[in-house]
This record gives sequence, structure tokens and C-alpha cells, in this order.
Amino acid sequence: MIEKKIGGAGLRGQVAGKTALSTVGISGSGLTYRGYDVKDLAANCSFEEVAYLILYGALPTAAQLADYQGLLKTQRGLPAALREVLERIPATAHPMDVMRTGCSMLGNLEGEASFDQQLQKANRLLAAFPSIICYWYRFSHDGVRIETETDDNSIGAHFLHMLHDESPKDLHVQVMHSSLVLYAEHEFNASTFTARVCASTLSDLFSCITGAIGTLRGPLHGGANEAAMELIERFSSSDEAERELLGMLKRKEKIMGFGHAVYTESDPRNEIIKGWSEKLASDVGDDLLYQISVRCEAVMWREKKLFCNADFFHASAYHYMKIPTKLFTPIFVMSRLTGWAAHIFEQRADNRIIRPSAEYTGPELRQFTAINER
Ligand code: COA
Repeated sequence: MIEKKIGGAGLRGQVAGKTALSTVGISGSGLTYRGYDVKDLAANCSFEEVAYLILYGALPTAAQLADYQGLLKTQRGLPAALREVLERIPATAHPMDVMRTGCSMLGNLEGEASFDQQLQKANRLLAAFPSIICYWYRFSHDGVRIETETDDNSIGAHFLHMLHDESPKDLHVQVMHSSLVLYAEHEFNASTFTARVCASTLSDLFSCITGAIGTLRGPLHGGANEAAMELIERFSSSDEAERELLGMLKRKEKIMGFGHAVYTESDPRNEIIKGWSEKLASDVGDDLLYQISVRCEAVMWREKKLFCNADFFHASAYHYMKIPTKLFTPIFVMSRLTGWAAHIFEQRADNRIIRPSAEYTGPELRQFTAINER
């Protein structure tokens, strides 16, 4: 009999495969992409530079980056059939469902004919995702059919431009670069693992990414930044935040944006996005939400030794840039697509179908009885 080893709940701490893409919690400040510390990347690189690193394996030269930005710019347009589908999705839909449908529909229209097209298709999705979410959002909420082929150089600027109908200020473009860099890749998290499981069946890229979007949607994963916003906007002062938080902890409620399955003392991404949130607060001349967030961070650490993960200060940062709360998690998709795609490529390059076993907890073998004898 084959002896089966049973891991802890949620497969915590189990090695489920190999990757050369990132390390979480074991080197540098706690997160590296292809050997580079995320702090160096977030401080020095555009998102497109990091997307190139993740997808192509090396940081681009200036010429390669210019070419890559140019390529992505040409891929922003949406086919008429996809626009029609987006126009039929109601304003009440969850934007993550829109992303999921948009990705799936594009797979119907421009599917991956062979794995030789994987990089081309990943770049197409990278360029198209901001267009998909903004086209739906502006049509369903403002009744306008926007032009998705803007002249903005970066994905972040392109997104803000379509959303707000004006070119974004430099500070906002910088925050988007940093935010997208921070969200780009994170080893075997739930959505990436979903993508790899799907890829291991030799399915197509669009199916793998559609599944990953569905997984990221949950509040225990990507949805935490929206949940964090819904929490902090309820408070009108830091003192009220502290009082309410203490009550929630007493009632054993989960506070979204805190804790992590792998990091034990801090999330390296938090310090960076927190810095941007503070800068944005001073730029708008209203730091209430930032101060409330800082108080929540202090209370959670004092009471539970729980620290902010990447999502918590993203909530105030995005809010200061006037991004509607329900679009927070789709921004995560726009970025994490790079990590998902690179993991899919990696899985395909050395594939064996992912098929773990289960510990059986059901009844012993028993006698079958025909329906008329039960
Ligand atoms: N608020 C309150 N308590 C929390 C908490 C939070 N955000 N995160 C963890 N805890 C508590 C757990 O309830 C558990 O308490 P218990 O031992 O009394 O049951 C303890 O801390 C240990 O945490 P655990 O649930 O084992 O961590 P995990 O690895 O299973 O889950 C998360 C990790 C991220 C899913 C979890 O921290 C969480 O749900 N956070 C909120 C959602 C979130 O921000 N997700 C984004 C992740 S990047």
C-alpha cells in the first residue's frame, strides 16, 4: 500500500512544485522576482520593466523596454464582439466577474492556437485588461463608449486616463507603477496555483487566467483591498477606528488587509505602499484616511501581533487617486497577470499533471442496496 502523507490544513508549508520566478519570505527583504529584491524594483523600475523581467526572464535594456512599451500600446484595442459583451454586463456586476468574462471572451475571439503563441497572448491580455475593465465601467456607469487606444506610455497611466477621462498627474502614474510592481508576482499563492493546475492539464492560456481571476476574487485573497477600504471608510476618526477594531477582535472577526499565510512578521510590500499613501494624503491635503489606517496598523500589532499585508494601505492609496473601490481588485489582475502567465510558461516547460491525493474520511466499504430495497 502506498503511504500517503497528509499536510496541514490549506497545504500550508508544503512544497508543491518548483519555480525560478520568485521567493516569498526567504531572501532579501522578503520578496524577490527572478533574484531581484522587490524594494529595488519598486523604487527604480516602471511596471513594464518588471513585467518584461517576469515574462522574458531578464531586465530589459532601454531599447528593449521602449520596444516593449510600443508593442503593448498597439494591443489596447478591443474587438467589437468583446465590446458588445461588455455593454451587456450590468452596472451592478462585480468588476472581477467582468474581468473573468472579458478574459474568457477574448479567448473565444483570439484564442491560443498553440503554445508558441503564449507570450504573444500574455502581452495581448496585459495590454487589454485595463481597456476591458474601463470600457465596461464607463459604459455601464457613465453611459459612454470610451476610446481604449490612448497614447499613454504606461499601463497605469492608460488605466487612469480611461477611468477619469483626463491624463493623470505624475504622482499618480508613479504610484500606479509601484503598486503594479508590488502585485506582479507572489510564488504559489492561491490564484497562481489555480493557473498552474489548469496549465498542467495542457489547457490554453485564457482558461488558466480565467480560473486564476475567479480565485483572486475571494476576500481572503485579492478581494482584501476592497474589504479593507469598506472597513476604514466606516470610521470618522482614529479613536473611533481603535474602538471599533477592538470590538471586532473581541468578536473574533477577521480584519481584512492583515495577516499573511507565509510572512510571519511583516509584508515587505506594505512599507512601500504605505509610503505612497502618505504622499498622496499630503498631496490631496487630507490625511484622515491615512491616519485611520496608521491607527489600525498600530492596534492590530499591539493586540494581535498581526501586520498589514500588501492590501491594507493600497485601500487608502487607491482612494486618494479617486479609484472606485470596486475596481481595486481588477487592478491587482492587471498586474498579477504577469506572474500567472510566467508560472503557466514554467509549468508547461516541465509539466506533469497536478493531481494530489486526498485522505479519505467517508464510510467503510458497504453493501449496495437496490432502490426498491432502501
Ligand atoms: N484578522 C483577525 N485575525 C486574524 C487575521 C485577521 N486579518 N489573520 C489571521 N488571524 C488570526 C486567525 O483567525 C488565527 O487565529 P486562531 O489561531 O485563533 O484561529 C491566527 O490569526 C492565525 O492566522 P491563520 O488564519 O492561521 O492564517 P492563515 O495562514 O490561515 O491565513 C490569511 C492567512 C491571509 C488568509 C489571513 O491572515 C486572513 O484571512 N487575512 C485577512 C484577509 C487578507 O487580508 N487577505 C490578503 C492576503 S495577502
